[in-house]
Amino acid sequence: PLLDPVPQLPALYTSIGFSIIALIATLYLVPALGPTLIKANLKGRDLLKTYDTPIPESLGLVCAAVYILLLMLFIPFPFSNSFANGRMVEVKGAQYEGIAINEFPHHFLSIYLSSLLALLVATLLGFLDDIFDIRWRHKVPIPIIGSIPLLMVYYAEQGNTNVVVPLPFRGILGRLVNLGPLYYLYMALLSTFSTNSINILAGINGSEVSQALIIAISVIINDLLYLPWPIDFRIPLHLLGSQAEVEVGGVWSAGMAYGSKELVERHLFSLYFMLPLVGVCIGFMYHNWYPARAFPGDTFCYVAGMAFAVVGIQAHFSKTLLLFFMPQIFNFVLSCPQIFGLVPCPRHRVPRFDANTNLLHPSKALFMRPPAKIATLVLHIFSALGLVELTVHPKTGQILETTNLTILNFLLVRLGSMNEKHLVQVLMCTQVAGSVLAFVIRYGLAGLVYDG
Ligand code: UD1
Ligand code: MG
Repeated sequence: PLLDPVPQLPALYTSIGFSIIALIATLYLVPALGPTLIKANLKGRDLLKTYDTPIPESLGLVCAAVYILLLMLFIPFPFSNSFANGRMVEVKGAQYEGIAINEFPHHFLSIYLSSLLALLVATLLGFLDDIFDIRWRHKVPIPIIGSIPLLMVYYAEQGNTNVVVPLPFRGILGRLVNLGPLYYLYMALLSTFSTNSINILAGINGSEVSQALIIAISVIINDLLYLPWPIDFRIPLHLLGSQAEVEVGGVWSAGMAYGSKELVERHLFSLYFMLPLVGVCIGFMYHNWYPARAFPGDTFCYVAGMAFAVVGIQAHFSKTLLLFFMPQIFNFVLSCPQIFGLVPCPRHRVPRFDANTNLLHPSKALFMRPPAKIATLVLHIFSALGLVELTVHPKTGQILETTNLTILNFLLVRLGSMNEKHLVQVLMCTQVAGSVLAFVIRYGLAGLVYDG
């Protein structure tokens, strides 16, 4: 198909420039503001070290500030085409200099502004969580409410709520199922999932920021596949999957031609939000890398998570996005018995640090009372799958202890004890492997399950 001219491409270069500024600003500001945060009592002890030096916490606030302010400064650039240079328009018979109201891409502006609003809500929530340690029952609904502006814009854009039914189920369900309001519920839940799932995959130096970095890079690679390149990159892509199966409204459908202006603009929007995030993540990672001199705090986890939900919803690729969250989904499912109170959940589930050997071992949750039947069943299943290690009473067989239900402890159970730096590297490899698999599923296997 012929590509429509895309007026926004120059803004992409500006966005790359802004990402470099984001990198430099974070590199400089994080150590500069650390002492200020310590003075404000925003500090934490590194649980997996021998020393007690207070480490400034909530540096995510600095990251969020750099990120959101740069995104605000960036607003005029994608609209530069609309700034008429002495062009005359006629409104109600009179001549004016400027642009006619219906020529301005208001929909794009509302996408942009509602996204900023969601990021601000995430910053506020994250920061409050850093200060007050908010309860789960309050933490979970807030991102859902924060995503309402996004959903409203999605609705105003006539966002799709149809799901293409995989081939084997077509006999029963037909080709398309309209989920209607359920689809909105799913998108609202996506925002609370992406924010909290990063926050609970945390506790070793570099874990939060490296997840965010790898997911952001994966989203960027995915976005680049949709840009109108001078060379036709679509050929290999076409071989991998079906060209017609673009994701429209979060579903794989044959609705929109590859390379259409609308599709390109959506992925450009996603790039505008992901590129500066990568800048911020790299800058912060330098200070958060083992041994950490700064902690991200919940603020960072919420803002990064919300940024992903924003692009997934606004650029209509929420299912592809979830594929990049495979380690987080695994960690969340594994964590459920502890989060929902079936298994005791200590305040920190980070691995146990052995100061003599400098190694991390799986940490354990202790049953003060005999576990409920359902907890016993779940833990035995987890144990059979090799996800946890149980300590059982030699006579009664009752479970006394389990390793904490996190991916970090799981990695230590499977791969044996290792030091903190090694563990974060393993975690990063897992995240990268997840993204590679995500691309294979999205562009390779989708063709087997969906037709064009
Ligand atoms: C989540 C996890 C918790 C984990 C904590 C670590 C769940 C349900 N909650 O809680 O199990 O222990 O994150 O962030 O899974 N810290 C380090 N090294 C690091 C990062 C953090 O020691 O690299 C410690 C510091 O003491 C820091 C504290 O963790 O002050 C921050 O914990 P916080 O983010 O408040 O914990 P939660 O998000 O509530
Ligand atoms: Mg946290």
